[in-house]
Formats: sequence, C-alpha cells, structure tokens
Amino acid sequence: MAEMKSMMVENRVFNPSPEFVAKARVNSLEQYKEMYKRSVENPNEFWAQMAEENLTWFKKWETVEEYSFTDDIYIRYFAGGKLNVSYNCLDRHLDGPRKNKAAIIWQGEPLEDSKTYTYQQLHNEVCKFANVLKSQGVKRGDRVGIYLPMIPELVIAMLACTRIGAIHCIVFGGFSAEAIRDRMLDAKAEILITNNFGYRSGKFLGSKDVADAAMAQCPDIKKCIVVKRVDKECNMVEGRDVYWDDLMATASNKCEPEAMDSEDPLFILYTSGSTGKPKGAMHTTAGYHLYAMMTVKYFFDIRDEDVYFCTADIGWVTGHSYCVYGPLGLGATSLIFEGVPNYPAPDRFWQIVEKYGVNILYTAPTAIRAMMKDGDQWPKGRDLSSLRLLASVGEPINPEAWMWYYTVIGKEKCPIVDTWWQTETGGHLIAPMPGAHPMKPGSAVNPFFGVVPVLLTAEGKEAGVNEGGHLCMKKPWPGIMRGVYGDPNRFKETYFVQQPGHYFSGDGARKDEDGYYWLLGRVDDVINVSGHRMGTAEVESALVAHATVAEAAVVGFPHDIKGEGIYAYVTLKEGVEGTDELKKELVAHVRKEIGPIASPDKIQFTPGMPKTRSGKIMRRILRKIAAGAVDELGDTSTLADSTVVDNLVANRQ
Ligand code: WTA
Repeated sequence: MAEMKSMMVENRVFNPSPEFVAKARVNSLEQYKEMYKRSVENPNEFWAQMAEENLTWFKKWETVEEYSFTDDIYIRYFAGGKLNVSYNCLDRHLDGPRKNKAAIIWQGEPLEDSKTYTYQQLHNEVCKFANVLKSQGVKRGDRVGIYLPMIPELVIAMLACTRIGAIHCIVFGGFSAEAIRDRMLDAKAEILITNNFGYRSGKFLGSKDVADAAMAQCPDIKKCIVVKRVDKECNMVEGRDVYWDDLMATASNKCEPEAMDSEDPLFILYTSGSTGKPKGAMHTTAGYHLYAMMTVKYFFDIRDEDVYFCTADIGWVTGHSYCVYGPLGLGATSLIFEGVPNYPAPDRFWQIVEKYGVNILYTAPTAIRAMMKDGDQWPKGRDLSSLRLLASVGEPINPEAWMWYYTVIGKEKCPIVDTWWQTETGGHLIAPMPGAHPMKPGSAVNPFFGVVPVLLTAEGKEAGVNEGGHLCMKKPWPGIMRGVYGDPNRFKETYFVQQPGHYFSGDGARKDEDGYYWLLGRVDDVINVSGHRMGTAEVESALVAHATVAEAAVVGFPHDIKGEGIYAYVTLKEGVEGTDELKKELVAHVRKEIGPIASPDKIQFTPGMPKTRSGKIMRRILRKIAAGAVDELGDTSTLADSTVVDNLVANRQ
C-alpha cells in the first residue's frame, strides 16, 4: 500500500449561501440525515419509491435489492422489471412542456458551430439511427464500438443503442489505434461508429485514420459508420464503410423501444486498474439509470429551467452518467462542448457560460488549476452571474483550487460539490448535499443515499477518526457495475478480495471528527493524470514493448496542473545508449501505444531498479525519488543492491 497520510489540515468551513438554501430540494442537515437513515435502514422501500417516482416502467419489478459481497458475487436491482433507457430519456418527455425544450445544446470547437436539439428533435434522430443500426445488422445484446469526439452524433448513437438493446462501448477520442483495437477485440464488437476528422485546438485530428489502423487488426468488424464532422474526404473502405448521413437520409423516425430487463447490460466502459489490460466495466439498465438521475437531482439540485454544463468528454464515465443518462432522464438541458478550456483563448468555458447562461457547471480540478494559472482577468471579463452551483470530479480538489473556484467563479454564492466516485460506481458516492452541508475546501463530505462507506486498515479493522484507511463500501447501491465484461473472476479479485465482504475502491481516505471524508488518492499502482486513470502496468508494458527497453517502472509524481505526472524509470538493453533522442522516441512510442494522456513527463535511464532480494521492485523508493523526497527513502536495507539507490538519486530528472 502506498504511503497514506493526511496531506493537510484544512479548517475553513463555508455554509451554503442563503439564496441557494432557500430553493434547495434538501435544505437542512436534518433532512439529509433523515433521508440517509431511511435509505440505509430500509433500502428496499427507499429505492422502490425512487424507482417509482423517477423512472417509467413497461413492467414493474419483482424484487428491489439483492446481493452478495462474499463467495459468488452478485448484485441485482429491480429484478423482473422491464423498461428502456432511451424511452426514459426521450419519449416520456414528449407529451408535455418539455417536448420543445432543449435536450442537448451542442457547442462545437469553432465559435460559430453550435446546434440545439429539442427533446422532440433528439427523439427523431435517435429513432432514425436506431433503425440504421438495425439495417446494419445490429441486434439486441450486440456490442457497438463508438469512437467519436464530442458531437451530437455521439449522444444520438448511444441512445439509439439503448433503444434497440445493443450495448455501447465508447472509446475516448484521444486514445490510439492500439487502444481501440484492444477494446473492440475484448468486447467482440462487429461494428464501429467514428468520424472522418475532428477538431483539437484549431487543428484537425485524423480520427478515421486511427480507426482504420485499429480495424485493420479487428477482423470481426464488418461495418463502420462514418460521421462527416469536417467537410473533407477521408479514406473509405468499399463494402465496410458508410457515411452516417447517407444512412440517415432514408431511415424512418419510428422505432419502438425494446423492453429491456432491469439487469440487461447497458454499456461497457474500459477502465485502468493496477494490473493487466484495462477492464470492461459493465453497467446494467435500471439501477444505473436511476442512480445517475438521482445524483444529478440531489447533488446538483437541478431544475427544469437550468442550463447544465458538464465539461467531461463522453468517452469517460463522467460523460456517460452526467452529460447523457442523468440529465436526459430528468428532462434537463445538457450542454456539451467539443473543444478544450484554453482555445481559442483561456476564457473558453466562461465565454460558454456567458453565451448560454449556464447555471450548473461540472468540471475537473486539473482544468481549474490550469485556468487559475492563466489569471483572473479571463473569468472577470465575462458575465458569470447565471451560475448557481459548481461541481468538481476526477481527483481530490486541493484547497487552493477550491477557494479560487468558490470565490472567483462562484462569487461565494455557489456551493462547490466535490464528487468522489469511479467508473465502477456508475455515479457519485460521496459529495456534499449542496443545500444542507457546510463545506470544507478539499473534502468530499458525506455519502449519497443508500451508500455505506467504511475506512478499513490493511488488517481489515475500522480506522479511527482522522486515521487513514482503505475506502470501502459495505453494501451495493443501484449504480454499481455488475461485472468485468467477459471475466467474472476478475470482478471478484479486483474489488472483493482485499477487504473480504466489502467493495474496495482502491482509494485511501480519512474521516474527520465531523464525519467528513477526505480523499487521499489511490493506494494501488494507479495514477491519476489530469483526472484520468492510468495503470502504471499499462505504461510499463508499452515501454518494454520498445526494442531498446529491458525493464521499466512507472510511478506518479506531484504535478502542478495535472495533479500527477508520469515518471518512468527505464533500464535499456545491453549496449543501447540512453540519449535524449531515445527519450523522445520512447515518449512517442507510448503515445502511439496508448494515447497522448499516457505520455511520460519524465524518463530516467537507470542501469538497475531498486529490488528486494526476491526480485520485487520497491516502488515506494521510486515514488519518493520522483517526488524529490530523497531524504525520506526510509529503510533500504532489504534491497538486493543498495548502491542502485545512490545512482537513482544522483540522476533524478
Ligand atoms: C479519483 C472518474 C478525489 C479516485 C469519476 C477514483 C477522485 C478515480 C475524485 C476514479 C474526487 C475521482 N476526489 N479523488 N472528487 N473523483 N477521483 O474511474 O482516485 O475515471 O478512484 O472515474 O479518480 O476515476 P474514474
């Protein structure tokens, strides 16, 4: 386990503003506590009520919550019920005032590119594309690969999959051909939806070329649907590739939603762990959808008239739950943005907030820190008075960034909702209830309804006040993943073995004297780069795949903007010289194997690794050296060769 200590003691407390509290759904601690108590003491009754009030069912469920966290792991919510997610996101909003309301406001990267889809319009497009998918042979239960940037077609494709019961498997647009290939092969997808070119900071991205390189190694992919995002020709393979627009031109906009079982898979999303290749986290239908909606409703206190802007890319879980399924299930207006925070200027987010009157903004600490560095003149030059609530996700938000977000962006009237959760959890597990909890900068505060966290020591004992522990869950909640796609054992081994009988998150946390949770980062070999999870093993295996590399060990180190950077220790093969040229080549190689987000920030060549006599690399030492804490190396007497350490320290990058 990585060192776990409280990074800081932060004593400031901020109460939610009276304006916010006056309108909040949950507006006192008593109300939060009462609902929380009900949700954990009587989960069947609580979730049944929520499912009744918030989802539309074709057939009611038979049982509410069933699970085992020991032996054979299983988790079921609303078994026997039938429903359809696209129906819940679209159809049921059509016979009322939401019919002509904006479901999606899309802002492209070029300033002049924007488009709004009302619920009716989105419904038409989704039904049409659902028919397109059927015409291409996609059936209920099939996996559909999607490699698209943040354009409306991405949302349309997802909802179309859910309409016909196909399982989408989205690959983040920044990933490489190799990463797409691995995911498509693992998911056994036979169709891929992509685009010709994309925009990135004013430049074109050759998305189709990347997809082509992936498909060349995926013999099962028989069809590829190509969105023409940019008016430019791309390579098209006869018999395999078809343009989205050509197929949509003749598609009917009538498509009955498939009646899905509550526990039918909804999507697979790959995520990094401490070992092996990324695993396909599988989420199912009713529990996931209900949970995504409930957390938007309560943690973001969303209103029908709000413009809600989640800046995450839909290629990550935050985009799945909080750009699409949560807000659309509630009939809200979700603004999606194709670009980046600093293009064409560092005030791009604030320009969007001003242009659309954004009320709720959900972004990541890494973006906040980058914007802080660009200077206050950028947000100050824009009208941000529409903002009512600010939220954060992806990594612990450091108090300095929290304070900037709270004062410069929120003008001390918006609650900051720091949401702790994971791909595996489907939705937020720990965050402040915005109209109820006094906030402490840097604390994720308290659990959502029905969520029962516990902090356990390595020996499985409950940690004391302010003592760090493994953040675990005693029981499931409706949004928890149901398995690792194609590998049931891995689900159990990854999450339920370290702390038997519990779901183990892989994060460390401490709980203070007021019962507030403070996240302390990962306790395993996962690093968090700009809020994106990266398994050190993945980067290491990319490095050793290079012809010059004998061994590689990768650790995270503190990085001002990214939160954590990637530090790679590399031992070269006999006779290979460690030049700066080679470093550049290795960085380029990792980018090609995984994607730009995995690029090492620093590479240190070393003749040897600090290993124990049994041959295990002592990562603790590597982490300390990478962090510059060379006088905190601790006991190195168990090393096979302690001179390795002196060499590592002397050549630190
Ligand atoms: C980290 C993203 C502290 C954590 C939703 C977790 C956070 C991993 C927070 C999941 C937060 C996410 N405070 N740490 N508010 N949010 N994390 O699967 O280490 O991409 O385990 O899901 O990000 O990353 P994932």
